[in-house]
Amino acid sequence: MSLALSAPAQSEPACADDGVWLECIECGAQWAPFDEIHYTCADCDSLLEVRYADPPTFDDFEGRGVWRYNAALPFEEGVTLPEGDTPLHEVPDLQAELGVDSLRVKHEGMNPTGAFKDRGMTVGVAVAKELGVDRLACASTGNTSAALAAYGARGGMETLVLLPSGKVAAGKIAQASLHGARILEVDGNFDSCLDIVQDLAARGEVYLLNSLNPFRLEGQKTIGFEILEKHYADYGEYPDRIVLPVGNAGNTAALYKAFRELVAGGALDEEQVPTLTGVQAEGAAPMVEAVENGRDEIDRWDDVETRATAIRIGNPVNAPKALPGIYNTGGTAVAVSDEQITTAQRQLAEAGIGVEPASAASVAGLRKLREAGEITADESVVCLTTGHLLKDPDAAFEAGGDPEPVPNDTDAVLEHIDDGGSALDSAIRTVSKATDSSLAAALGGLAAAYLGYRKLRSNEK
Ligand code: F0G
Repeated sequence: MSLALSAPAQSEPACADDGVWLECIECGAQWAPFDEIHYTCADCDSLLEVRYADPPTFDDFEGRGVWRYNAALPFEEGVTLPEGDTPLHEVPDLQAELGVDSLRVKHEGMNPTGAFKDRGMTVGVAVAKELGVDRLACASTGNTSAALAAYGARGGMETLVLLPSGKVAAGKIAQASLHGARILEVDGNFDSCLDIVQDLAARGEVYLLNSLNPFRLEGQKTIGFEILEKHYADYGEYPDRIVLPVGNAGNTAALYKAFRELVAGGALDEEQVPTLTGVQAEGAAPMVEAVENGRDEIDRWDDVETRATAIRIGNPVNAPKALPGIYNTGGTAVAVSDEQITTAQRQLAEAGIGVEPASAASVAGLRKLREAGEITADESVVCLTTGHLLKDPDAAFEAGGDPEPVPNDTDAVLEHIDDGGSALDSAIRTVSKATDSSLAAALGGLAAAYLGYRKLRSNEK
């Protein structure tokens, strides 16, 4: 099976273990899955994929969560918390405002550690156990480290995480810390952390559980199965398009693999495969650059910056798997500004869906492509939101309203609630957060004066 959408099922090679093997996406070399550790092809160093002799059909799936899909996974069960089975929310207001036929939000923030990474780790840590390794490691913008720490702890294994110093949201470091990972803060960005952890893995010091490890993507593939099953159950058809944030491009590759396997098994027609649409932040958009230029590979961006720290990545290692996914499903990729991301984060919050900034990129990307007419009004769309609001409390505070201090007195609280001034305060706070201008400073001064006046008035009573 090549990376073509229509590639037929393959016959089992001699190296396979119970119908499962590893195969290089470039040279086709095949490797036994659990005899030795392979992250990339030992012949040509390209990416590997997990391959199966029996592609799945929907009838093979039973149970709940990630392991419902074990017919499409290397094992029957794994180290589980459990994960998957996340909601596919309806968002009628957002759907009407964006003007698409239907819009659903697949909220992966509802996994045990608050991000989709748990799906990859339940499989990845099971493979680590099968291989008999004891020290697990990853580079991370935060969520992978939280998931690795939790699943490693659950599996009774040592965990080591390398994080870009000062660029990881508070909730994620807190998780890695409490679940007992050793946290190494590197004076560099995520891509440098991944370079180092790959070196450590090559020297046999650690078992690498970044999405470069093909088994991680097997777990993440189940996002695709869940979306298709639920959408079909609700509407009698599959979504036209899935819009998702892109960092290392693991999910894009994983969703594409889910669809290819269903096509190979005869469970899905090629024309039923949703269009994969990737969204990056403007300050970290090498995939978008590649897609805009119709290229098959990306150029690494050395300088990356975005408020959506989860996708602050300049060298998406899964691009060779993800770009065919975008091209062969008729998809595209788009870059959005941090401001557009924050707007989308607020809009999702208004629908009761709390996400971290990177997640909101999907909705921001949908808006941009809808406004450009690239996504049309007749489409049914699923946006993937990848991580929970509480992952990045600082970003949530910046996007949301501030607490209002009130006196310890019911009448004063009531007066404050009824007081139109509180609306003025919050408007001033929003303006002063949004800009650095002298106008904002002046408004800030006005707010201070007003608060002083109100305090005086309440003292008079
Ligand atoms: N959204 C969130 C919340 C993420 O944490 C990540 C990746 C992505 C999107 C991008 O997904 O890599 O599959 O394209 N986070 C990794 C980490 C890099 O270390 O937590 P992708």
